[in-house]
Amino acid sequence: MNRIHDLSELFMEYLKDIYSAEKQQLECLPRFISKLENINLKELLERNLERTKVHEKRIESIFELLKDNFHLHSDLVMEELLCRINKLLKYSDNNKILDASFISSMQGIVYYEIATYGMLRSLAATLNYHPEIISLLIQTLDDENRFELELENLAKEAVFKKVKQFSIAV
Ligand SMILES: [Fe+2]
Repeated sequence: MNRIHDLSELFMEYLKDIYSAEKQQLECLPRFISKLENINLKELLERNLERTKVHEKRIESIFELLKDNFHLHSDLVMEELLCRINKLLKYSDNNKILDASFISSMQGIVYYEIATYGMLRSLAATLNYHPEIISLLIQTLDDENRFELELENLAKEAVFKKVKQFSIAV
């Protein structure tokens, strides 16, 4: 990481991180989703992958508006979060536990994204950036908040209940 001297450099550092985070999800999640059992969870995650492609494009538009190049940089937080999913998939010994582990890990990912996009939106407003930049960040933040709610509902209604029933039956 380069030295950060002011808020615009801090903004750019977060933007590079979240750009890498979206790209890493696009690369790894399709492989993970194929291993899940719950069809509603699979559909939700596939819908979210489509939204993630849009998030990636929105960040590229922000780089363009700021006349900055896209950065090849790896976000270590997302690397760690995805690595944890990989381990959970390996060690979950039945499909229902696997779905529950996956949904909990995805909640970790979406909270990280909400925090980062929220920070970017606040920095962009403080720095009086172009309204288009703020609008792009708000649109993605709204998507991430919606996804968090959808995951929460699915976890409560389906995935965790099934694990509980399964555990009682065993
Ligand atoms: Fe995203």
